[in-house]
Amino acid sequence: TPTSRVRVYRTTTMQIPIIQVSGGRCSLLTGDIILPRAGFVNCFFEFFQKSLVPHSTARRQAKFCSFFVLTLAFFGNTLIVLQHLLTMQAHTAPLGIRWPPLHLPGGRQIRKEGPTLKKRVGILTSGGDCPGLNATIRGVAKALYARMGDSIEIVGILNGYHGLINGDYKEMCEDDFRGILTLGGTILGTKRTPFKMMRVVEEDKIDKVAAMKKTYKDAKLDCLLCLGGNGTHKTANLLSQEGLNIIGLPKTIDNDIYGTDVTFGFHTAVDIATDVIDRIHTTAGSHSRVMCIEIMGNKAGWLTLYSGIAGGADIILLPELPYDIDRVCDAVERRAKKGSNFSIIAVAEGAMNCEESRMKRKEWMAKRIESGMGTTATSRIAATIQKKTGMETRVCIPGHMQRGGSPCAYDRVLATQFGSYAAKLVEIERYGVAVAMVNHHVTENRLEDIAGKTRNIPEGCELITVARRMGISLG
Ligand code: F6P
Repeated sequence: TPTSRVRVYRTTTMQIPIIQVSGGRCSLLTGDIILPRAGFVNCFFEFFQKSLVPHSTARRQAKFCSFFVLTLAFFGNTLIVLQHLLTMQAHTAPLGIRWPPLHLPGGRQIRKEGPTLKKRVGILTSGGDCPGLNATIRGVAKALYARMGDSIEIVGILNGYHGLINGDYKEMCEDDFRGILTLGGTILGTKRTPFKMMRVVEEDKIDKVAAMKKTYKDAKLDCLLCLGGNGTHKTANLLSQEGLNIIGLPKTIDNDIYGTDVTFGFHTAVDIATDVIDRIHTTAGSHSRVMCIEIMGNKAGWLTLYSGIAGGADIILLPELPYDIDRVCDAVERRAKKGSNFSIIAVAEGAMNCEESRMKRKEWMAKRIESGMGTTATSRIAATIQKKTGMETRVCIPGHMQRGGSPCAYDRVLATQFGSYAAKLVEIERYGVAVAMVNHHVTENRLEDIAGKTRNIPEGCELITVARRMGISLG
């Protein structure tokens, strides 16, 4: 790239070469600081002269430089650079330095004139809680403060979309995010606010979508981060289509969010459910019993499949593979004949038999209620096994324990990866997306591409093949 001018500015502690590049746009440059126009170079130079020599303190230098270090950008074209310049403008204003107006390449001014350059970021957690929510909130906050310093303000929306509808929010400070990496649940509270009700005006006469938009405006948010599962992402997409700046973060112990290979909370739940299966083994063996353990997961069986394999279950029943109770009984009897005095069955909450799989949800639900054995299949499976095989059978439901407590190390790392990535998206103002992990890389999907879809165990899933190879019955 042709270089027209090199100026070197020296202070007693550092030397700053300023390389002015002439010629066209879009040359890929690497530099600690990249300024899109010559006018900026002059201001930048002036800044150093005015601020570092008479006024400077080491602290000011460090603060200033932190905004710029390691920027790699396309010459003249990058929002990140403009964002940095806005911050720089704010910091240099007291020194009387006048900067050229900042414009996007298309000529649109990137921010309205005004004294504040603060960015206000809302965060909410919605749907069922899970380990890793706080770790993700912390990841977002720490990365935002680290990247954008004093220009960031975080607003916590309480109890998910319920808080957004009702205007329940609070200003947060850096201290609020300390010590929560290991904390289970969510410091913001959560609630299930079904997506299908968002457009429905109920008895309280509240137009929920209008109310959410109003809270967003009242809280002066620049963007809103929605941590949640499939339902949360559907509402996030709705809000995005309504013009709000939304970023989704994928949480759920079910691991069933479309477009991401993994969600935070899942691996902790796998550890908990595996521990349950381990513990059930010893009591099942001692009593020569069949034990049916109901694992969470209504639509997707990932948690049952992973914990079933990790815990050495003998039979695994999943929502994706309807079971035949005779085959389940055969598997128990085969084990008994081979000398095993007990069997462990991992049953997904959403498991259903072949007959039910051909019915509408309403129909099989009505049948289950009528039978008086609960709305999940587990108790019925246990009763039938006992009747058909004569083996004493018990049910164990760990339930919400699978969502409780501290996140495992994997989820802490994942939460931090997702959180810090979301902070980057905020910084570059990339909205209408959900953070995801694809092929071991953190990335983002457009909300509209993933909302309303579920990631079930696919046909030909490798772990299903592994289970079969291991002689595990899938019913
Ligand atoms: O979505 C997570 C999950 O734990 C599912 O596995 C389970 O079916 C459901 O939530 C239970 O929901 P709730 O906490 O509302 O009873």
